[in-house]
Amino acid sequence: MNLFEQQSAEFQRRHIGISETDKQKMLQTIGVRSLDELIDKTVPANIRMQKKLDLPPAISENEYLKLVKELSMKNKLFKTYIGQGYYDTITPSVILRNVFENPGWYTQYTPYQAEISQGRLESLLNFQTIVSDLTALPIANASLLDEATAAAEAMSMIFHHINKTDKIERAKFFVDSSIFPQTIDVIITRAKPINIELVFGDYKKAQLDNSYFGAIVQYPNNAGSIEDYREFINQVHNVGGFVVMATDLLALTLLTPPGELGADVAVGSAQRFGVPLGFGGPHAAFFSAKDEFKRNIPGRIIGVSIDAQGNRALRMALQTREQHIKREKATSNICTAQALLANMAAMYAVYHGPHELKNIAQRIAILTQTVAEEIEARGFELISDKFFDTIVVKVENITPYKTKAERQQINLRYIDNNLIGISLDETITVDDLYDLINCFENDVDPVAFDIEEDAELNHIPLNLSRTSSFLTHPVFNTHHSETQMMRYIKSLENKDLALNTSMISLGSCTMKLNAASEMIPLSWNHWSKMHPFAPSDQTQGYQQIINELSDYLCKITVFDACSLQPNSGAQGEYAGLLTIKAYHESRGDHHRNVMLIPISAHGTNPASAVMAGMKVVVVKALDNGYIDVNDLKAKAEQHAANLAGIMITYPSTYGVYEETVKEITNIVHQYGGQVYMDGANMNAQVGLTAPGLIGADVCHLNLHKTFAIPHGGGGPGVGPICCKQHLAKFLPGHVEFKVAGYQLAVGGNGQQATNKHAVSAAPFGSASILLISYGYIRMLGAEGVKAATEYAILNANYMRARLQEQYDILYTNHNDECAHEFIVDLRPFKVTTGIEAEDVAKRLMDYGFHAPTMSFPVPGTIMIEPTESEDKAELDRFCDALLSIRDEIRAIEEGKIDKVDNPLKNAPHTQHSVCADEWNHKYSRNEATFPLYYVTQNKFWPSVSRINNTYGDRNLICTCEPLSSYVEAEA
Ligand SMILES: Cc1ncc(COP(=O)(O)O)c(C=O)c1O
Repeated sequence: MNLFEQQSAEFQRRHIGISETDKQKMLQTIGVRSLDELIDKTVPANIRMQKKLDLPPAISENEYLKLVKELSMKNKLFKTYIGQGYYDTITPSVILRNVFENPGWYTQYTPYQAEISQGRLESLLNFQTIVSDLTALPIANASLLDEATAAAEAMSMIFHHINKTDKIERAKFFVDSSIFPQTIDVIITRAKPINIELVFGDYKKAQLDNSYFGAIVQYPNNAGSIEDYREFINQVHNVGGFVVMATDLLALTLLTPPGELGADVAVGSAQRFGVPLGFGGPHAAFFSAKDEFKRNIPGRIIGVSIDAQGNRALRMALQTREQHIKREKATSNICTAQALLANMAAMYAVYHGPHELKNIAQRIAILTQTVAEEIEARGFELISDKFFDTIVVKVENITPYKTKAERQQINLRYIDNNLIGISLDETITVDDLYDLINCFENDVDPVAFDIEEDAELNHIPLNLSRTSSFLTHPVFNTHHSETQMMRYIKSLENKDLALNTSMISLGSCTMKLNAASEMIPLSWNHWSKMHPFAPSDQTQGYQQIINELSDYLCKITVFDACSLQPNSGAQGEYAGLLTIKAYHESRGDHHRNVMLIPISAHGTNPASAVMAGMKVVVVKALDNGYIDVNDLKAKAEQHAANLAGIMITYPSTYGVYEETVKEITNIVHQYGGQVYMDGANMNAQVGLTAPGLIGADVCHLNLHKTFAIPHGGGGPGVGPICCKQHLAKFLPGHVEFKVAGYQLAVGGNGQQATNKHAVSAAPFGSASILLISYGYIRMLGAEGVKAATEYAILNANYMRARLQEQYDILYTNHNDECAHEFIVDLRPFKVTTGIEAEDVAKRLMDYGFHAPTMSFPVPGTIMIEPTESEDKAELDRFCDALLSIRDEIRAIEEGKIDKVDNPLKNAPHTQHSVCADEWNHKYSRNEATFPLYYVTQNKFWPSVSRINNTYGDRNLICTCEPLSSYVEAEA
């Protein structure tokens, strides 16, 4: 490589942690001569990709930033009044810099290991408190994917709450026609497969009976109108149904909250609390409900518990509801949600506090009121005179207004040929109103208007004005100066172990580098301030990214078409299964509804299958972890007439490339089924093999695993689906697809999903973070992405080789190699010493590490996935930690350390506990906290000790408690 070629390839060496010298040492430890030999011994020959990936050559970080800046300029930044659930917002710089752009926050993992996640747990508890306070409903979760899916989740939660699994007594759900079109779209998608009957209409005229299980209304509604739903809610309650209210958190600072109106569930988007538009996402949706739903609420709930010392500590509550345990009995497949964005929204409320939030809302309401009155004064009629931030103007024909608006670089919402929507947000100033009102002026007179800055809010009905207080907790009334806020954010960050501290080797989660150059463009206005329903000629930059990324993903998967709409892996599963279902139906095979799912599958697989209206049949595994082909054959044959397909993960969740995979996909095809591949383990395939080569028909990819999008402490994620030609026309659609010029699903000979409904609120899901994966592929190029896979396999096998002397490694292939991850069996220690997987996980914290994946797919084990981004020294530190822990276990086995009072059972050790005057343990403070030398050089302190799980579930508290409870805990 000459000097210039070296520069182009620089990112590969920065992304991949292993140096050439270290590689040789590692290969020696594994016992192979070369990386090629290792790959040959690992990936079966009959599925190997023969050709080099057809991707553009790698470019340097600097070249990429230049390119992505140029592309951003193809997006036109108009002043946007489109609204419809998406509003421009001002992200306070202190939050932008210290949360959104800070790896200490965005590289965190989902807070399963609560003792080293107290910072984000606290922030998510703040989020829940905000939602609960503003909606006046007691239980809130820690975010969902978007407003539309949150509404669909609410519908399905109530449906399952009222109906028994085997008997649907109430199938009808009333949908008020005045809810956002994209919400209706997703509700239609989600209702059909589970036999919910939707009835659309005007809530004022609705006549419900006991065939209805519930209803949904929006507050303020699609046209911005503030309706009084009290009577309607009573009507629904009188027939035994429940009411979901889609709503807006900012509006609720001024409006009587849903809970006080009698609503049972509230949903919506927290986007306008400081989260950039980003052409549709990612944003955090919220969900709150009455107490009776607390065990059915989808997604994650953060709850208050206590630690081993009796101190207050936070954790994810009610985890028994997770899909892993419920599997096909789960009623929701939510796994990744939108934690980072929920944290940003929470910080926005912490920074502003209740008073300033109300001021923001009031400013918007006064500006809207001014616009409304001025437009009316010019002879126009509005469709409602009760509004907060949105008005709809009646016109004879939108064209002249549209032309004038566009001339002034303004986007209005053109609802149809006679209705124009205008939504204001916190970025709008008094000066902006000149141009806005000018759209409705005669083009002769100069625009003049009156604004009364302290005007009464005449358009918010008195009987719907908020009287109750909100956000009274001190956390929302303290950190209002930038110094305070900066320190608050930092104090929480310090409690959390993220990738900027040490490796997070979570099997199946691929916690690789999220490079700064991939992340930086996300903050640029021409990406972050684009509205998802902006006209296509203003979003050429985004469209280029979308088209090119879709094309790259098709090439990587060896498939023909791609939809980037699903905004998590599980959403991708759901979308992919609907694609399979629609394909069968198009051939008259409506009865094909049996989905074969291996026992080792991730819990979201069976949950998604049931949501798609399928029947799950479980396929057994052999002792070596492979799918039991005989069992598969028997089940495929038994269900031949109704076989819809199979869901496989490849390499399997046991971390091996099954040589039998082609046989498996052939069997399913032979019986008329389709093959769905869960792409969570794609980091072991890119450039070496592909779903299209193993015989799959459709797959999802987790861009937040393989393609470098950070996990953000539990989201965002992106779960695009790629498929073969014959499925392309069944990919998700979108109601806004009618917007001229957009190509929704890319590839598939231009076949468009015109008649399909959406799976996500925004046409391209979490569009802004697609840039990260785009950057990853552009900077690595074909060789780099393949090298990433090879080094992921090298790193995993190196660690396996180092650990296998002391630990049992489950499931390797016939050459004794693993794929990109491997499972360490800890079950034997429970028998010999009482030490469980959890003890090892917690003890790793004392060594400065996050635990690997616990008890999935096999209970009592840990699954390690180092990824290609770690260097040898870090891999060695992690191995040294596990080997040292093995020595500690051995000392218990040999009776040298107490079975009960030992460093594992008491782990993790906090600074507070080891510095206390008293130390009554049978091992030293030094052994507790600095078990290896490297720890003395870089100590990470867990902020609480072992958390009591059952206590938190028995006493569910999911909002900030009154200050008195902290005082009591301290006493
Ligand atoms: C094998 C597998 N499938 C599916 C999923 C679900 O993906 P997501 O969390 O993005 O919804 C995961 C998540 O960890 C997984 O490991």
